[in-house]
Amino acid sequence: MESIIFLVLIVWFFSFFSLAPFVPTRNKDLQRIAKIIQLQTGEVFLEIGSWTAKVSIFMAKYYPNNTIVGIEFSPFLYIVSKIRSFFSWQKNLHIIYGNALHLDFWKYDVFYLFGTPDSLKNKIIPKFQSESKKNARLFSYCFSFENSQLYEKKHKESDQDLSVFEYRKG
Ligand SMILES: C[S@@+](CC[C@H](N)C(=O)[O-])C[C@H]1O[C@@H](n2cnc3c(N)ncnc32)[C@H](O)[C@@H]1O
Repeated sequence: MESIIFLVLIVWFFSFFSLAPFVPTRNKDLQRIAKIIQLQTGEVFLEIGSWTAKVSIFMAKYYPNNTIVGIEFSPFLYIVSKIRSFFSWQKNLHIIYGNALHLDFWKYDVFYLFGTPDSLKNKIIPKFQSESKKNARLFSYCFSFENSQLYEKKHKESDQDLSVFEYRKG
């Protein structure tokens, strides 16, 4: 019992430093998101804050010829993700531990996250604008933000869908 309380406290503690709301992408949206993202040959995908790697595992299966990377900074969620990714048997999937804000964004072509508008606007987008490739794309689940320098496209095929916002440099 103590160990469960301890794990819950760890997850709760890390949520305070989080870029994001502490809930994952809905299962029923995974296929829709994978289709919207449309990875091209050779593109490397990064999930920023990969939780238990649900999205990353789905993407790795959907795009077996692309490299899929998930980064998670909660140690507990990272360990769960490593176990889940091992049993997914996807050789193109890599789960790494750490703070996404310290990653080298130049290595990636497509970014996905479920982050708050505030973290998007003040942390992720400035890094995306200054440190990513010219043709890089960023997909934000549910939340958008204002930025006149980026091209924005909203994906919402029906009223029941949650929005997916796509950002490009131009
Ligand atoms: C809302 S959850 C989304 C999880 C997953 N992307 C999904 O859509 O199902 C946000 C995740 O981001 C992680 N996170 C928050 N800030 C982070 C950071 N700076 N670096 C890496 N992971 C982070 C949190 O621990 C949490 O697991």
